[in-house]
Amino acid sequence: MNARSSHKPLAIYRLLAATLLLLVSPLCRAQSPGAAATPPMGWNSWNHFAEKVDDATIRAQADAMVSTGMRDAGYLYINIDDTWEGDRDAQGVIHPNSKFPDMKALADYVHSKGLKIGIYSSPGSKTCAGFAGSYGHEEQDAATYAAWGIDYLKYDLCGLREIMKNAPSLEAANKIMVDAYVKMRDALRKTNRPIVYSFCQYGDDAVWRWGASAGGNLWRTTGDINDTYARMADIGFGQAGLAQFAGPGHWNDPDMLEIGNGGMKTEEYRTHMSLWALLAAPLLAGNDLTAMSPETIALLTNREVIAIDQDAAGKQGDRFSAEGPMEVWVRQLADGSKAVGLFNRHFGPLDIQVDFHEVGFKGAVKVRDVWAARDLGSMKDSYKVQVPGHGVVLLRVSE
Ligand code: GLA
Repeated sequence: MNARSSHKPLAIYRLLAATLLLLVSPLCRAQSPGAAATPPMGWNSWNHFAEKVDDATIRAQADAMVSTGMRDAGYLYINIDDTWEGDRDAQGVIHPNSKFPDMKALADYVHSKGLKIGIYSSPGSKTCAGFAGSYGHEEQDAATYAAWGIDYLKYDLCGLREIMKNAPSLEAANKIMVDAYVKMRDALRKTNRPIVYSFCQYGDDAVWRWGASAGGNLWRTTGDINDTYARMADIGFGQAGLAQFAGPGHWNDPDMLEIGNGGMKTEEYRTHMSLWALLAAPLLAGNDLTAMSPETIALLTNREVIAIDQDAAGKQGDRFSAEGPMEVWVRQLADGSKAVGLFNRHFGPLDIQVDFHEVGFKGAVKVRDVWAARDLGSMKDSYKVQVPGHGVVLLRVSE
């Protein structure tokens, strides 16, 4: 059969497959599943710049994303968080404030670097920082974002809580919340532009159970991270049990990275990156990309760690065992190997052992220490290693 004669049946099969997928797959209910087939990677302004973000900052971060090799390592989105919003005009159209003179020109600039651009809003009438939210203007805002060329929307509950608190019951309040997220999903869909849809409502009402069907490509599972080991570990290790809810197109989001912001030691940032990779978490750098040490670049761009995070099977890892401050986390990977994280939550070094039969291997295994980029050779039963305080040894194990 030549290419021409096979064209029609192929098209019909494709149509049939697409229809079937639409009917059966929860992934297809997400706003834009294709755009988040693996956990989104990029940068967000909030953790480092908070309200001190403007057009020049975003351009400089986009430049640095390219010059530091972050883009080539897979980081794609440049996301503007809260405080860009200005006033609505007489027609209700939102305009950026004076920090962002021309959002379309900024989006064009970011796109010209081979990157994508994200923005932030709230289903309430005010954002967390008190700027204009999208309440009552959802379709208009989605259309404005699409016209600017926006590729990603973080939608932060905040102001909607003012409305939710007048609801007669918790159930009624939660319905207001879910409806608001669905409303923006529909508005985004109407634009016909693929826009990754990121829920930020801190995990309320077990969002992992309804986030995908409400259109979320990712949803925050907790309150805000900060640049301390205690908070990062609390959030990261607290993700145990959520693996079943994530998959291609719809991800649990334990919040943005703090790597490079200076509040943690190298071993602690290594734990942060390793844990997020095992969790199939979105990797949104939250530091100043224009002022990174070689060490920070090395942590953020380690190809083998990123490959674990971005593994095509999209299976989130989970806690396998815990004994006091020692935790073993395992993630199944597409090629049959497993990523195994040996985490030490104690402040001093500890010996941690993993039994390869217990984590699911039958015969001898090949073991690679990922951060050391070293093959440790073939092993039969178990491996014991000293793990630094607050640190990790990340292994890739295959049969
Ligand atoms: C909330 C979110 C943060 C950030 C701020 C902005 O706290 O969780 O990630 O977006 O709002 O105001």
